[in-house]
Amino acid sequence: MKHFISTQEWKKEELDKLLDLTAEMKKDPEEYNNSLLGKSLCMFFYNPSTRTRNSTEVAAYQLGMHPAFNSIKDAWIGYQSESIKDTSIVLSKYYDAIGIRIFPVSVKWKYKEGHRILNEFARYSEVPIINFEDDQFHPLQALTDIFTIREKKIHTEGKKIVISWCYHPKPLPFSVPNSILLMSSRYGMDITLTHPKEYRLDDEIISVAENNITQSGGTLSFSHDIDEAYQDADVVYIKSWGARPYYGDAKNEKQLRIPYRESWRIKANHLEKTEKDSVLMHCLPIRRNVVADDEVIDGKHSIVYKQAENRLYTAKAVLYNLLKN
Ligand code: CP
Repeated sequence: MKHFISTQEWKKEELDKLLDLTAEMKKDPEEYNNSLLGKSLCMFFYNPSTRTRNSTEVAAYQLGMHPAFNSIKDAWIGYQSESIKDTSIVLSKYYDAIGIRIFPVSVKWKYKEGHRILNEFARYSEVPIINFEDDQFHPLQALTDIFTIREKKIHTEGKKIVISWCYHPKPLPFSVPNSILLMSSRYGMDITLTHPKEYRLDDEIISVAENNITQSGGTLSFSHDIDEAYQDADVVYIKSWGARPYYGDAKNEKQLRIPYRESWRIKANHLEKTEKDSVLMHCLPIRRNVVADDEVIDGKHSIVYKQAENRLYTAKAVLYNLLKN
C-alpha cells in the first residue's frame, strides 16, 4: 500500500506515470467515469481550503467515489481527546483512502509537527493517506505545478524557474515552496531561489533538492536580488513564506518583513526581464495588490487559473493510482 505524503517518497518513474495519467484523464475524462465506483474518500480538514477540498471532492465524485468532508470541529481528535492511532484505525475501517490537511496553526507552530501527525496517521492506517497540505509539503499542488509547466512548456529540462518569495502581511508555511523546489529539482529545471536573506528555506530541504539535481541534471542558485533573479526566466513561481528563525513568532517576524512590503510586492515591471513567453504561477489563494498586483495576476504571463483547474485532474490521477491497483 502506498501513501501520497510527499513527492520525494515517490520514484521519478512513478511521478512520470502520475503525470501521464493526469494528461490522459484530462483529455478523455469519460473513460474514467465511475472507475472507482463504490469506493469512499475521507476528507479530513484541520484548516480551510477552497481548491484542495473542491477539486478532490469533484475528482472523487467523477470517479464514482463517495467523498465525505470532515472538519476537525466535528471530530473527537485532538491533544486531549482521541488519539491519532485510534482515529486512523477507525477511519480506515470505513474508507478506502483518507486525505488530511493540517497547517502549523493547528499544531501550535511546533516545527514539522503537522507532517509528523500525517505520518502517524499513515503508520496506523489500513488505507492510503493523501497529504492535502501539511506544514512541510503540498504534493498535490507540486504535482499539478509540474503538470501545468509541462503543459505550457513541453520540456522542463533546462528551463529556468524562479521560485520567488514575495511580501505577505503574515508568515506563511513552507509547504508550497518546499514542494515546488523538490519537484522542479526532480525534473531537471534550472532553479533560482530568490528571497530576502532572512528567508532561506530549511537547509535539509535545500540539501534534498541539491541531491535531486545531481540525478536530474538541473541547477540550483540563490539570489537576494529580485530583479537579477527574474532575468531570462521561463517560469516565475511566486509564493510568500515565513522566516525560519522566527517560526511561530509572527509578532517579531513582522518587523523583519515590513521593509520588504514594497520591493517584494510583485509588479508588472518584475516580469519584463523574463522570457517573452514566460509563465507566472501561484498556487492561490493570493492577496491581490498586496502579494502581487492585479496587472500581474491578470496579465499575459499568468497561468494561475490553469494551475487551479489542473488540480482536478491530478487529484483524479492520484486517487486512481492509489486505489485502482
Ligand atoms: N492551493 C491550495 O491548496 O488552495 P486551497 O488552500 O484553497 O486548498
